[in-house]
Amino acid sequence: MRTRIAVLVSGGGTNLQALIDAQGRGEIPDGEIALVISNNPKAYALERAKRAGIKTAVCAKPDMEKKILEALAFHDIGMIVLAGFMAILSKDFVSRWPERIINIHPSLIPSFCGEGFYGLRVHEAALNYGVKVTGATVHYVNEIPDGGRIICQKAVEIRDGDTPEVLQRRVMEQAEWILLPRAAEIVAKSIRMERSTC
Ligand code: GAR
Repeated sequence: MRTRIAVLVSGGGTNLQALIDAQGRGEIPDGEIALVISNNPKAYALERAKRAGIKTAVCAKPDMEKKILEALAFHDIGMIVLAGFMAILSKDFVSRWPERIINIHPSLIPSFCGEGFYGLRVHEAALNYGVKVTGATVHYVNEIPDGGRIICQKAVEIRDGDTPEVLQRRVMEQAEWILLPRAAEIVAKSIRMERSTC
């Protein structure tokens, strides 16, 4: 049985789109994107999901986590992908899903990560520091922001004259949109294998 995946989003949803496109190409054979949850009712990612015929839910404050847990149970979800989800999940929440939540972060962890590092801020920090190489990381989510076990990483070069926006786009194209579907399949497959050995 394929692992039913919920993708959590907050904004534009280009990483969600990469997952949808990869699924369309048959690159996530062990998983199925069954639900997209946004904490932001205006997220364009919701449109992307609807266009792809994927069920959506908006789970915003207050009681965001309670609403998310209810939606996950209702849709029989087995694995969660954070794809540009801009809220930090509580220790209580993540402890209910050990090695079942993964996150994409737009830097080479442990650089430029943790609380306060999200979206363009990550690329601003890399440029301000002056590093010559950055990249993206997919990792399991635990109680430490961006602190869970790393699943995969890919380096991307920084060029003279890069702005945060230009660098963000290069990191997405050369790393994020490739890594996230790959990691989703790795985890979906491991969950399926675990199930078949019980
Ligand atoms: C992506 O770059 C993702 O890695 C980042 O936000 C962007 C969302 O774009 N996530 C974080 O910074 C999480 N700490 P998208 O909505 O187009 O996928």
